[in-house]
Amino acid sequence: MKIMTVVGARPQFIKAAPLSRALRKSHREVLVHTGQHYDRAMSQQFFDQMGIPRPDHNLEVGSGSHGLQTGQMLIRLEPLMLKEKPDAVVVFGDTNSTLAGALAAAKLHIPVAHIEAGMRSFNRLMPEELNRVAADHLSDVNFCSTRTAVMNLKREGVTGGVHLVGDIMVDSLNLFLPEPAASAEILGEYGVAPGSFLLATIHRAENTDSRKRLGEIVSALSRSDYLILFPAHPRTLARLKSFGLLARAGDCEKLRLIPPLGYVESLALQSRARAVITDSGGVQKEAYLLRTPCLTVRTETEWVETVESGWNRLVGVDREKIARALRRVARPRSHPRLYGNGKTAERIVACLERRFGR
Ligand code: UD1
Ligand code: UDP
Repeated sequence: MKIMTVVGARPQFIKAAPLSRALRKSHREVLVHTGQHYDRAMSQQFFDQMGIPRPDHNLEVGSGSHGLQTGQMLIRLEPLMLKEKPDAVVVFGDTNSTLAGALAAAKLHIPVAHIEAGMRSFNRLMPEELNRVAADHLSDVNFCSTRTAVMNLKREGVTGGVHLVGDIMVDSLNLFLPEPAASAEILGEYGVAPGSFLLATIHRAENTDSRKRLGEIVSALSRSDYLILFPAHPRTLARLKSFGLLARAGDCEKLRLIPPLGYVESLALQSRARAVITDSGGVQKEAYLLRTPCLTVRTETEWVETVESGWNRLVGVDREKIARALRRVARPRSHPRLYGNGKTAERIVACLERRFGR
């Protein structure tokens, strides 16, 4: 079986790592990097750290408006798919690279498999929501992380080719979560002690592209009693600069802006933080898996189970609400297994084999 995997953004490298390992045991993978993320800290460091094979093709699309970026990907993917003639194309998550991979393949009548299908925020203002809905409906096979995702698809009439396989980020975490001694070393490098700090990641367009919202978030974080490590996504750093908020963030001794973390460092710091504050989908999930309380700087989430279980709280961008939540973080007693047993990659490969194996 020959599978083309399309990746382009940080969370997709992280999800591709376990799939690539499982796939390459007995099949051919053609790995395509769209070039959506290109800074070393956003791309190459994950390939190096996670041993992801070098992409067979890098489309070097880079940044741009949604139409430009997605359009360039389509233009560059089509001839590649025609040349490589894969048995199926695999896409992950909800980025512009996901949409372009799914659309290019579907138009060429190449079967599409979508990993992390069926997630919904029901907020069509998010670019990711449009990408998810379109990718799910273009796909022949939808691999769902949760029952909620299966139900979301059912409500939209997508029932054929839907497989509940658990979440592939559990596989990634199991492969790369450092041992306690290595975690302690990483904490030492950042000069923090377990439980004494918070980890913040903010990058969603709806939070970073508005001066008011980003300002509210910086104000709330600045009022924390605990040190906050804030690995800044390049989008966030650019907006902090252009909105004149960088000095305010930099002046606050409790808020420490740092470059984007490697995956291993991200897991180590999340696992030992008092809490994480985020608008990332992946980080909400990882915080749960690592039993670290999470405050989500949004008013809705796709990962509803983390909220229902009490480990994740939606705090929006309200300064008071964030500050209050920071003072009282909950650590519920129960911790149900929400995202499968870490064998998701194997399950996906077995299913692809049944459908597309020759
Ligand atoms: C994208 C995804 C988002 C995902 C996130 C993961 C879309 C619509 N959004 O958002 O769902 O959660 O990736 O991190 O696909 N930039 C750099 N260097 C880079 C990459 C980006 O400087 O290596 C800057 C550029 O100014 C760029 C901006 O960040 O315009 C935004 O990048 P882009 O890939 O368009 O979206 P993300 O915010 O990263
Ligand atoms: N992550 C990382 N370094 C960072 C911030 C996040 O390695 O500085 C990892 C994090 O551990 C998770 C993934 O990136 O595995 C989440 O990706 P991101 O937040 O970029 O996108 P989203 O999940 O929101 O689409």
